[in-house]
Amino acid sequence: MNRDVKHEKLLQWVQEVADMCRPDSVSWCDGSREEYNRLMTLAVNSGSAIPLKKRPNCFLFRSDPSDVARVEDRTYISTRDRIDAGPTNNWVNPDELKATMRVLYQGCMKGRTMYVIPFSMGPIGSPISKVGIEITDSPYVVCNMHTMTRVGTKVMEVLGEDGEFIPCLHSVGAPLEPGQKDVSWPCAPMEKKYISHFPEENLIWSFGSGYGGNALLGKKCLALRIASAMARREGWMAEHMLILRLTSPGGKQYHICAAFPSACGKTNLAMLQTTIEGWKCETVGDDIAWMKIGPDGRLYAINPEAGFFGVAPGTSYDSNPMAMDTLHENVIFTNCALTDDGDVWWEGMGGEPPAHAVDWKGRDWTPSGKEVAAHANSRFTAPASQCPCICSDWEKPEGVPIDIFIFGGRRAGVVPLVSEAFGWDHGVYLGATASSETTAANIGDIGALRRDPFAMKPFCGYNMGDYFQHWLEMGDKLGNKAPRIFYVNWFRKSPEGKFLWPGFGDNSRVLKWMCERIEGKVSARQTPIGLLPNESDLDLKGLRIPQENLEELLKVDIDAWRAEIPNLEAHFAQFGDRLPQRMKKQLDELKERLKK
Ligand code: GTP
Ligand code: SPV
Ligand code: MN
Repeated sequence: MNRDVKHEKLLQWVQEVADMCRPDSVSWCDGSREEYNRLMTLAVNSGSAIPLKKRPNCFLFRSDPSDVARVEDRTYISTRDRIDAGPTNNWVNPDELKATMRVLYQGCMKGRTMYVIPFSMGPIGSPISKVGIEITDSPYVVCNMHTMTRVGTKVMEVLGEDGEFIPCLHSVGAPLEPGQKDVSWPCAPMEKKYISHFPEENLIWSFGSGYGGNALLGKKCLALRIASAMARREGWMAEHMLILRLTSPGGKQYHICAAFPSACGKTNLAMLQTTIEGWKCETVGDDIAWMKIGPDGRLYAINPEAGFFGVAPGTSYDSNPMAMDTLHENVIFTNCALTDDGDVWWEGMGGEPPAHAVDWKGRDWTPSGKEVAAHANSRFTAPASQCPCICSDWEKPEGVPIDIFIFGGRRAGVVPLVSEAFGWDHGVYLGATASSETTAANIGDIGALRRDPFAMKPFCGYNMGDYFQHWLEMGDKLGNKAPRIFYVNWFRKSPEGKFLWPGFGDNSRVLKWMCERIEGKVSARQTPIGLLPNESDLDLKGLRIPQENLEELLKVDIDAWRAEIPNLEAHFAQFGDRLPQRMKKQLDELKERLKK
């Protein structure tokens, strides 16, 4: 055990885990560059990492083909009463789940080193930040945590002898017998994977997967599932939202939070390069926002993360130049393709595809083949500080004041480019009924339409009906200082399957309309589903887009919306008496408006 650590509760927990998991050794992480280099060297020597000749201090990892994304089917919210996990979460009683997992954890780290990672979500010492301790047997996880969170000795100082921490236990679930050679990406089969949360005791137990949100426990597990439950108890908010600062030509700053489901455009919007004159965008966060009401009564947001775990495919100098320029050095790439000259490649990177590459499974690949070279959920792990458009205030302990909330999703049909809510309750209704086609960020169906309230379906650590109520109560507290709420859909398609809206940088045109709505400078037309811009309300200067596309993007198809009603009713019905009356009222009013 570590002699410098004086925190009794922490020491006791680490000892208990070591006794159960029986690693060969225990290593306390200090978050140093030396530690990172040492673990990467280990990974390279063992064959699990490939250094990239073209990018200094960058490494490529290839996962097991079965372990490529989050596993919502294997993710649990374990509360004493099932009703408190709600209808949108998998539930098992805590005693039963712990008993099952204890069997799996028994001796699961044999032949491996157990790392203890002290980390802070949020700038160290910020009043909104939280400390976690992740125990893991994966060096890949340690290196990723170095980039994604703030790791190390400073965190231990904040913790002191009795500070509060959230225990996060992780194992890849692949013990080694004496003499057994390790594989390059150890993990357990699907039926042994468990991503478990015990929100009533702020505890996380993850077993069997090494990938992303399953294994980097500060991210979805702590900063969303556990934090959302804490936030409700303590009167703040933990949301699956990017945070950006938009500055007008006159120098006025607007801070915007947007909640889109996984792989639906948060990182891209957060790093947007505007296509309208004089407007500038800066990134505060790309995935998660923690928000508290400040002394002036406004809502302030911090980004609890320190890095980006971003979707690689589709990232190019055309779509997201700021991300591309974040990726030159100090990046971990997972499941991207490897080019012959020692660089990474993915579909939608721009330019000519390489004549030959090694695909994410380690096989020879040429452009004429049928399969993709990079997995659809291949990702980069990069320090946020390397982003050229990172906001100078991104680590401000008190956060930035939020003016606008945006909800949205990926919908080929029905949902227009943008609409504004009539008021807070209607805005909460828009969030509560958000819908999207599923993506490769989760193992399961792709392209299946589902309701994903507030982009939090996979991430809400308690009953989603209570979560709607929490949003209503936050609005009541914020009163006229509450952010204005909008809903967007960048993903509307033509019957031929082409995107109708150019998206990316041109999304700034939609953000500008939102800011001007706040200022009362621009009009909107009333429709049954919300307030929509007239064509003349949008700044479309320099944009070449067929007239019929624009009309389609700004159209409200009454019949199509009426056809959504049964699905909306079924969605709300699942919450039973946990559905706030104010939400039911919103749906009733929508039905009335659609009748006329
Ligand atoms: P997570 O990290 O899983 O939470 O994803 P995210 O919400 O940050 O999504 P991201 O920005 O990484 O985008 C996912 C995919 O959508 C990428 O392939 C992007 O190229 C694509 N995308 C993002 N924004 C737009 C847009 O405005 N229009 C279109 N057509 N595609 C977009
Ligand atoms: C998401 O799926 O929303 C992500 C990626 O941000 S992961 O960290 O794997 O959850
Ligand atoms: Mn995400």
